[in-house]
Amino acid sequence: MTGCAMSEWPDTDEIYRRLKALIKEPLHPIRRERMQEVLCYFDEKCTRSRALTDKAREYIPGGVQHNLAFNYPFPLAVEKAEGAYLWDVDGNRYIDFLQAGGPIVLGNNYAPVREKVIETLLSSGPVTGLFHEYELKLAELIHRFVPSVEMFRMLGSGTEAVMAAIRAARAFTGKVKVIKAGGAYHGWSDSMVYSLHIPGTRRREATGIPRGASRHTQEFYPHDLGALRRLMQRNRLRGGTAAVILEPVGPESGTRPVPRDFNRQVRQVCDEFGALLILDEVVTGFRLGMGGAQGYFGVTPDLTVFGKCITGGFPMAGGVGGRREVMMRFAAGIGGTGERAYVGGTLSANPLSCVAGVHALLEMERTNAPALAAKAGDRLTRGLEGMIDRLGLPFVAYNQGSIVHLETSGVMLLDLRNPVKLMRELKPRKHMMEEMGAAYMAQGIVTLAGSRMYTSMADTDEVIDDSRDRFETVLSTMEGAG
Ligand SMILES: Cc1ncc(COP(=O)(O)O)c(C=O)c1O
Repeated sequence: MTGCAMSEWPDTDEIYRRLKALIKEPLHPIRRERMQEVLCYFDEKCTRSRALTDKAREYIPGGVQHNLAFNYPFPLAVEKAEGAYLWDVDGNRYIDFLQAGGPIVLGNNYAPVREKVIETLLSSGPVTGLFHEYELKLAELIHRFVPSVEMFRMLGSGTEAVMAAIRAARAFTGKVKVIKAGGAYHGWSDSMVYSLHIPGTRRREATGIPRGASRHTQEFYPHDLGALRRLMQRNRLRGGTAAVILEPVGPESGTRPVPRDFNRQVRQVCDEFGALLILDEVVTGFRLGMGGAQGYFGVTPDLTVFGKCITGGFPMAGGVGGRREVMMRFAAGIGGTGERAYVGGTLSANPLSCVAGVHALLEMERTNAPALAAKAGDRLTRGLEGMIDRLGLPFVAYNQGSIVHLETSGVMLLDLRNPVKLMRELKPRKHMMEEMGAAYMAQGIVTLAGSRMYTSMADTDEVIDDSRDRFETVLSTMEGAG
């Protein structure tokens, strides 16, 4: 458990039992009259946000650039971020549990890192295209925290880093198939937009992607080791398995939480079949502890994909690291023998991203931020569990340290093993999640899509207790709340 921040691993059997019970129940949405009040909040208190994002719709498809900003009933425009809070352009304050989708563990706009970035900006400007000492410092630091990363290559995003990892795995093994867990998210590259969110949905979201692009992508039902092994057996006659790629806490940042030993078991299966294990630590890397999820589970992947925390919330967050002989496939330079796995990127490893990464990671180590964030996650989860019990609701709260899940509609737990239920319930359950997101927002809390909360070091006991009161105000307005 090197560098681990989590107090305990959740009892996954118990969570699945409760999640199954949740999706068997009819929906318990917010009472209609209370939902009207939520919509009034947006109409009355968010007028500048509405005007700005309405105007943005003329120039930006859908009105916002970031998937997570597509909020119901309309997106909010943010003006200021500090510590545990965000302020919108109408001056409303929110407790920020979105944390930009995960990269921020020190709290918003953390001054010691910002100051280092400004110093570097003043001396070298944002980018030169030549080597900067901070690239070395970052690679060394990552190696210190995550020893399986013998070498590191910085890229522009988690998506790019996944693409690179897969390319290197194929180049190194000479094999072709890549297997992921159904429902997992590994970015939006052509080959990885496959069975997103809901296992078994394969190319449902692959609009604009030719079939051939995901021909060698395969999925197994989450945590079904037998199914994974059978796929790899079949692949022996079909080009072999280059890699298995996993979100180490389970698909969608642990929305389908992984049994404690699963990563280690997959490591063994990969060894048996000569496939590489790629751990996608875009969310877990440094959030679960300075050693990442691999430190916690005691598993050594061949390659690790990083994103988000690797630049502490600053732009161009992506990188891949791992075994020296695999990583050498990326050796940089112009031209070559055709043997290398090609990667590039004008702004990859720019000095600002690297300096931000180094100082964010050092500050996280110094302040013990992952453990403090996890403690806040525990406190929030215990509070949510208590109110769910008191109110007699079938909802499910659980956390993996600073990743907190609050399932009220259970939409992410539907799957294609029951296609009729999926078709019938997908839309209403999804809409309930949107309403939940809006209701939390109207109570001064920003969540990720109404069902996930990332906590940070800035979430003191006072902040968490304040948020618990706000959550209770919302949950007590649900149909069926006692
Ligand atoms: C597990 C995981 N992998 C990859 C990605 C893609 O990273 P990026 O958004 O930086 O492209 C994400 C993004 O949320 C992620 O959660």
